[in-house]
Amino acid sequence: MSNTAPSEFNASVAEQNPDFLRTLNEFAVDLISIPNATDLFWYVARNVAGRLGFVDCVIYTADVETQELTQVAALGEKNPYGRTILNPLVIPFGVGITGKVALSRQPIIVDDLLNDANYIQDSQPARSEICVPLLSRGQLVGVIDSEHPDAHAFGPAELEILTTVAAMTSAKLELLDEADRSQQRYADLVKTHAKLSEEICSRKALEAELHDARRHEAVGQLTGRLAYDFNNLLSVISGNLELVEAYFKEPSSRRFLNEASLASQRATRLVSDLLVFAQRSKLTFSKTNMNDLVADLCGVSVVPHNVTLQLDLSPIDLVADTDVSAAKSAINAVISNGIEAMADGGTLTVSTDIVGRSTMSRLMLPRVLSPGVYVSVKVVDTGTGMTSDQIERVFDPFFSTKPASSGYGLGLSMVHGFMKQSGGAVVVSQNTPKGTILELFFPVQP
Ligand SMILES: Nc1ncnc2c1ncn2[C@@H]1O[C@H](COP(=O)(O)OP(=O)(O)OP(=O)(O)O)[C@@H](O)[C@H]1O
Ligand SMILES: [Mg+2]
Repeated sequence: MSNTAPSEFNASVAEQNPDFLRTLNEFAVDLISIPNATDLFWYVARNVAGRLGFVDCVIYTADVETQELTQVAALGEKNPYGRTILNPLVIPFGVGITGKVALSRQPIIVDDLLNDANYIQDSQPARSEICVPLLSRGQLVGVIDSEHPDAHAFGPAELEILTTVAAMTSAKLELLDEADRSQQRYADLVKTHAKLSEEICSRKALEAELHDARRHEAVGQLTGRLAYDFNNLLSVISGNLELVEAYFKEPSSRRFLNEASLASQRATRLVSDLLVFAQRSKLTFSKTNMNDLVADLCGVSVVPHNVTLQLDLSPIDLVADTDVSAAKSAINAVISNGIEAMADGGTLTVSTDIVGRSTMSRLMLPRVLSPGVYVSVKVVDTGTGMTSDQIERVFDPFFSTKPASSGYGLGLSMVHGFMKQSGGAVVVSQNTPKGTILELFFPVQP
């Protein structure tokens, strides 16, 4: 066995093997378009070693973790057809001639295998063998091995040729490795960018929610204070009106007094609605079967002939802790809005469900809610829908797109105030392709 270091390329190699330079030139050109390591190994085994006069060539890849070589491409006996290796050998580093080359990272030529104790016979017995390492950035990545049925088949010329092929193969492997890494870096970058965008979006959404919550809080406080004072003044006004009514019996005076009294009643109702929005109403909580409440309410709802009312109640009993009469008013206000938004007809679906028990359904809870279990009452209509601008203002008191005579724009403000005061929430979103979804979350526990 001779352990031979590669010598400088010399002209005599090219003279001895006229195909050498042409094959190497073609190899250099083809290398550019070879897309991956597997194609490269097969190309080298067949098109390079084969055309350079080697009757056999097997390429092994090295695994430095397991310290093993595995056959990955071959020319000759090991590969009679296609790109399949018959019984691919796995050789530990240090074992056999290929294993020795893997360990020493130096090429080896064995002139006569009959005299070499390291020889591991593969599919066919051979007399001589040449093996060179494949190195990438100083690391062993594999070996190229060739055997010959005759002794003394390999000399310095073959070593020169195979070492040059190995160097070119290693250079391409480095390029492929770099391409893989830059592709991975690009993929990582895309992933990081997507994650960052997602975080920015969710942060913006959170900031918007916080801004909305603060705005409602401020408006609520001011409204609450005004409504409270107004309520006191109205009590004085209506009390005095009642006293005056006792003194003025003649019809002309009664008419004026009646109008004053009606106006004072409307003002009292308005002020009490504002107190609901400002979360200052008096609530009485009790365990309430929400399926029954919704069914009763829908049973007495007046629905136009061109609107279909669908009930989709949860099969399990849903008990929430709420104020029955205020909960009915809130759901009713949402149903009325849905019906009013479907002047040309449509379908209104009212469904109930339990949310917050499983990890998945916890994700469906609005962020404003504290963690817990809630009964959801969802009202979906196929009406006009709302613009995102309208959605933003829908809970503001006195926001209405309806004619002045139809409503004050307090319906959803009251729903918002009541739901918040009772530890729940109301959420609005667009129904696709058209319509609106309003979902009310009632806490199961107080
Ligand atoms: N389901 C819905 N579809 C389309 N728009 C809606 C829907 N619900 C509410 N809106 C819009 O939100 C506005 C505010 O609703 P809200 O219930 O607070 O007041 P309103 O219905 O106008 O008057 P009120 O309820 O005081 O009689 C409505 O005028 C309407 O523009
Ligand atoms: Mg309304």
